[in-house]
Amino acid sequence: MKGIILAGGSGTRLYPMTIALSKQLMPVYDKPMIYYPLATLMRAGIREVLIITTPRDSGLFQKLLGDGSQLGCRFEYAVQSHPRGIADAFNIGRLFIGEDNVALILGDNIFYGSSLHQQLSERLNPDGGVIFAYHVNNPRRYGVVNLDATGQVDSIEEKPENPRSNYAIPGIYFYDNEVLDIVKGIQPSHRGELEITDVNKAYLKMGKLHVSVLDRGTAWLDTGTVSSLMQASQFVEVIENRQGQKIGAIEEAAFEMGYIGEAQLRQLAEPLRSSGYGEYLLSLIQHT
Ligand code: DAU
Repeated sequence: MKGIILAGGSGTRLYPMTIALSKQLMPVYDKPMIYYPLATLMRAGIREVLIITTPRDSGLFQKLLGDGSQLGCRFEYAVQSHPRGIADAFNIGRLFIGEDNVALILGDNIFYGSSLHQQLSERLNPDGGVIFAYHVNNPRRYGVVNLDATGQVDSIEEKPENPRSNYAIPGIYFYDNEVLDIVKGIQPSHRGELEITDVNKAYLKMGKLHVSVLDRGTAWLDTGTVSSLMQASQFVEVIENRQGQKIGAIEEAAFEMGYIGEAQLRQLAEPLRSSGYGEYLLSLIQHT
């Protein structure tokens, strides 16, 4: 399965912070935001990743993440000239995806939980589409899924006024290759975007939309507003300082997944020692 991180958009809800800099490069506590979704894909077992950004920011992402070989992965880059919608990622990524399955993750979604990576890696070969469901207090800001008595998808709606459930759909989606055909048939919504919810509705109509509920032991944070960005940073700080273990460290993910060995981890850690991040990476070697 290939992965796409969608890290474009205008970030207007974070202005003035995002006037000159991409939202997904901004810090969430001690690392750039994009590290978190990238580490999530890597820990799910996905090593080939397309990173879609605005034309303005593409060079910065490439400077940060390179071609991925340093992490035992392969990264490609593409640009989205206008925010034409989340589902536009499949048009942009068509060649990259080729004949494979694809996981799409939004560059501003942060996941954390002990059983999560196992849950994701079980979905690498979907027959149709897989969405996830997460119980939230206020689902109106999100795509919302309603489940029937047997736990199957009954309905999905984008930002409903009167949600039928408290289950929001987080920004991570797994699809088979048919998504490339489905997206061709989708029209822009009233807000002028190709909606990911319409892709999911197409799979639902075909009886091929599966849902996996993320349990309460999983944290899903989004960083779309100043307040939620701050909360995400505080969450990461609290967990990291308490446990002495990092969330979203891509070098650690590469090492633990066996994509790189000790010598390579050491090489990645050396230039990062003065911030303490490098010391942390080196401590992983001592603990093995
Ligand atoms: O966070 C999960 C939610 O993400 C889902 O529950 C919704 O169903 C889904 O529509 C989406 O809702 P948002 O309103 O939060 O999406 P937003 O427009 O903020 O875009 C999410 C991220 O994707 C954002 O960081 C920017 C990026 N993006 C978005 C669009 C529309 C792009 O890179 N290009 C785009 O064209």
